[in-house]
Amino acid sequence: NNILINLKILMELSRKFSLQNSNSFNVKATSPIVYFPKTLTDLQNLPDLSQTPYYILGDGSNTLFVDQQAPIIIKPDFKGISISETNESFIVSVGAGENWHDLVCLCIGKSIFGLENLALIPGSVGAAPVQNIGAYGVEFSNFCSVVKWFDFASQTIKSISGNECHFAYRNSIFKEALHNQGIITEVVLTFPKKWKANITYAGLDKLEQNSSPKQVMDKVVSLRQAKLPDPSKIPNAGSFFKNPIVDMKKFDSLKKSNPKIPFYPQGEGQVKLAAGWLIEQVGLKGYNQNGVGVHEHQALVLVNYGSNHGSDIVALAKFVQQQVFAMFDIIISPEVRMVSKQGEHSFEELTIKNGYE
Ligand code: EPU
Repeated sequence: NNILINLKILMELSRKFSLQNSNSFNVKATSPIVYFPKTLTDLQNLPDLSQTPYYILGDGSNTLFVDQQAPIIIKPDFKGISISETNESFIVSVGAGENWHDLVCLCIGKSIFGLENLALIPGSVGAAPVQNIGAYGVEFSNFCSVVKWFDFASQTIKSISGNECHFAYRNSIFKEALHNQGIITEVVLTFPKKWKANITYAGLDKLEQNSSPKQVMDKVVSLRQAKLPDPSKIPNAGSFFKNPIVDMKKFDSLKKSNPKIPFYPQGEGQVKLAAGWLIEQVGLKGYNQNGVGVHEHQALVLVNYGSNHGSDIVALAKFVQQQVFAMFDIIISPEVRMVSKQGEHSFEELTIKNGYE
């Protein structure tokens, strides 16, 4: 029993824990308790949180604390990377607490290719499956064979196959049926040894067809650095909104009045539009209010120039959403997760005037 109590104390780093440096928007928020589980025993020793608001935080690069009080936080700290191979593939198992970009660099350094288009995406490995991170024509789901996940109900770790994860654009089972039902501890990625550069996305198409994986990665890094603000200099969470998906009828009418509209056919009569382009059209690129703003080089990114309040970013996001809706009759939805002391919220349920207490 004493051992168990000590483990609990070890996991519970401090009470009234400041999260300002643990969210890439750098807004003020305080949590009553933060747990850092790194073993199965740590997970089994977590208190029963079924009746208490809590939030699972990775590196905090896709989370907005909407008021200054946060709920109980669980920050998975599962570390370690192991690599095996078959004749055809490399298999890489990675702890959820590892950093995503470090993993990309490690793989490329060991001649395991495939993740080069996903370089420089901020965040932890455990967060990657949740929103199925993607960039420059590649998604996490392209390589994910298994996600290991601690199930609160059975108190065991289950293996969920890539197919069972129901990956879609910025979505997965972890945001839907398994939301708040457990914790990702590890991901298993499979990389075919036969590699082919994926360089069709705008910007990468200027690379030579025989470019090496390192050259592709360097190009992705330079494209991202040119457009996306570095969160350590200008706090932000990357794309704030998801790119909206519309049907053909809607797309055809938009294309008639906006012949230059960027679009990405999705199959099944669906077309993905560029939210950054829509925001730019309503004239909000570079717009600022109350210390927060729409980034001047990439309108999909909201930036914090000096506000301590997540609510300022919510207010700006609501304004941007309204303006886009007024002009295009399209609702753009945040991909950033909204968290108050009551736990996670949908963007719709947040109201500005009443605060979020
Ligand atoms: N565009 C504008 N104005 C802007 C921004 C974009 O007109 O201010 C236009 C661009 O000219 C281009 C189109 O919109 O024609 C798409 O822009 P871009 O290639 O920069 O990509 P995105 O759709 O804005 C998505 C991802 C990014 C990812 C890039 C590259 C989402 C929500 N975002 O952005 O992911 O890096 O593609 O693949 O899908 C992130 O999730 O944090 C992120 C940065």
